[in-house]
Amino acid sequence: MLRFIPFIRHTTNMQTVLGIETSCDDTGVAIFCAKRGILACLKQSQIDTHTPYGGVVPELASRDHIKFTMPLIQATLAKAGVSLKDIDGVAYTAGPGLIGALFVGAAIGRSLGYALNIPTVGVHHMEGHLLAPMLEANKPAYPFLALLVSGGHTQLMHVEDFARYEILGQTLDDAAGEAFDKTAKLLELGYLGGPAIAALAQSGDSTRFPLPRPMLDRPGLDFSFSGLKTAVLRAFNESDKSEQSKADIAASFQEAVVDTLVRKCKRAIKQTHATRLVIAGGVSANQLLRERLNELRDTEVFYPRMAYCTDNGAMIAYAGYLHLVQGKADDLTIRAKARWPLTEKY
Ligand code: KG4
Ligand code: ZN
Repeated sequence: MLRFIPFIRHTTNMQTVLGIETSCDDTGVAIFCAKRGILACLKQSQIDTHTPYGGVVPELASRDHIKFTMPLIQATLAKAGVSLKDIDGVAYTAGPGLIGALFVGAAIGRSLGYALNIPTVGVHHMEGHLLAPMLEANKPAYPFLALLVSGGHTQLMHVEDFARYEILGQTLDDAAGEAFDKTAKLLELGYLGGPAIAALAQSGDSTRFPLPRPMLDRPGLDFSFSGLKTAVLRAFNESDKSEQSKADIAASFQEAVVDTLVRKCKRAIKQTHATRLVIAGGVSANQLLRERLNELRDTEVFYPRMAYCTDNGAMIAYAGYLHLVQGKADDLTIRAKARWPLTEKY
């Protein structure tokens, strides 16, 4: 087998990192600077491409990433007021996610590094989410407890330090965001409907439909949301399907998910004696979840800003910077992993 020895201009002064996120249906690019933070962060949504299909079509996602990534890199550089020669390293999402979509970011990121003769690094998407609150002025000190809630993941983690993660509990089936998306589809609110459910819930009665709080009757920190999905389907089919009933279902559903997440966080805090809790991933944008967690006593809660809750390039640029500055870098093989537990080595 051929062994490729990379020839890389290793910089002892890693300052400015370009981050590329292409794991699902958002193309995200950002530039992180060690001295000045995020210089620019741009995102191109693919919502128009996937809406007619009611969900993300992996092949179409890859094609859109191919179309969008290079122009977005150019626009992000322009917005940041830097040129390619100012970039010291490139980070891209190497997994988990849609494999074709990941390969676009990996191939572009790795090739850019090769052409510029600078190091590149593949970043774990959930590590990006996890570290996004570190980009805020009020950032958590290590160690902390983290609730990662996105379209593909629901995990409680103990974070001892950067790159020292322990999974305490996770979903056994659907992720919280996935449950939001499936409920939104059922209520005909379009795909990626988390924000639409939250908006509709405002005019609904959250006590009208008594929905289950999965796994709360059992010990441990795992989650399960598929039973809730079935209960929502039953409630909807047995209702008059009026606009008010839809709003009441949205409110009852949101209440059930938030209540479950908050109670599991409380259980994890009790178990680990954590005084700091980080919430990250798309569902961390949910206002009701934020309100309920802010009521926790003796635990300070940290969130990313709204733009860094859902998929974005900033979190990848930042996580990549932390790896690159420690000397971690790719060889010349371009790698991406559709499945990749956060605790497993790249
Ligand atoms: O982190 P993310 O952008 O992508 C993944 O890594 O999966 O998360 C997307 C998920 C979707 O399921 C979306 O419906 C959900 O986050 N989401 C929300 C809200 N905003 C986004 N769920 C509930 N309330 C919101 N405000
Ligand atoms: Zn994500």
